[in-house]
Amino acid sequence: MKFFVDTAEIDAIAELNDLGMVDGVTTNPSLIKKSGRDIIEVTKEICDLVDGPVSAEVTATDAETMIAEGRKLVEIAENIAVKVPLTWDGLKACKSLTDDGHMVNVTLCFSANQALLAAKAGASFISPFIGRLDDINLDGMEIIEDIRTIYDNYGFETEILAASIRSVNHILDSARIGADVITAPPAVIKAMVNHPLTDKGLDAFLADIKAADIKIL
Ligand code: G3P
Repeated sequence: MKFFVDTAEIDAIAELNDLGMVDGVTTNPSLIKKSGRDIIEVTKEICDLVDGPVSAEVTATDAETMIAEGRKLVEIAENIAVKVPLTWDGLKACKSLTDDGHMVNVTLCFSANQALLAAKAGASFISPFIGRLDDINLDGMEIIEDIRTIYDNYGFETEILAASIRSVNHILDSARIGADVITAPPAVIKAMVNHPLTDKGLDAFLADIKAADIKIL
């Protein structure tokens, strides 16, 4: 499973990247706003840091302008994936940009049928938003399962990028189902290390190290 980091914060990306945990990065207008940085500038910095795909989202809602924005975004670096919303115009932009050989991430996906359309339009990644479905009392994981089944039934190569990940359980469930990629905030990825028995076990070992005055260096 690939790990993308869902942030435009350079320091957080760098910390995880140094550990080999970063296979890519996803940004969106809200994350760019949160960073307080210029989209082109911060996206270039991320692309320089990370080897894998870096998603940068268009701002337009009509296909023609999305395509023009996508063409400008891909000039930033070779590893840009243009992010377009799952609208009819977004699908048109997806088809055009993928036909030109660019990576496209189709975002704001909330149904398996939408994901099917994105695959037909040649999307490199489909981003179903798990957390936002859970927020309205639907089962975000169910859509990941449905998309996995549908893509496998027909051999679609579009990668399932589980997004709007809010908890470590979202990551575990996505891995169980076989999502190709998760994109999660750095804090959620780091939280995967936590286990109370690890803390308890380490405390016991530390007590014995002290009691027996065990030294290595
Ligand atoms: O990758 C999409 C993500 O940024 C949305 O997450 O938590 O705002 O629903 P959230």
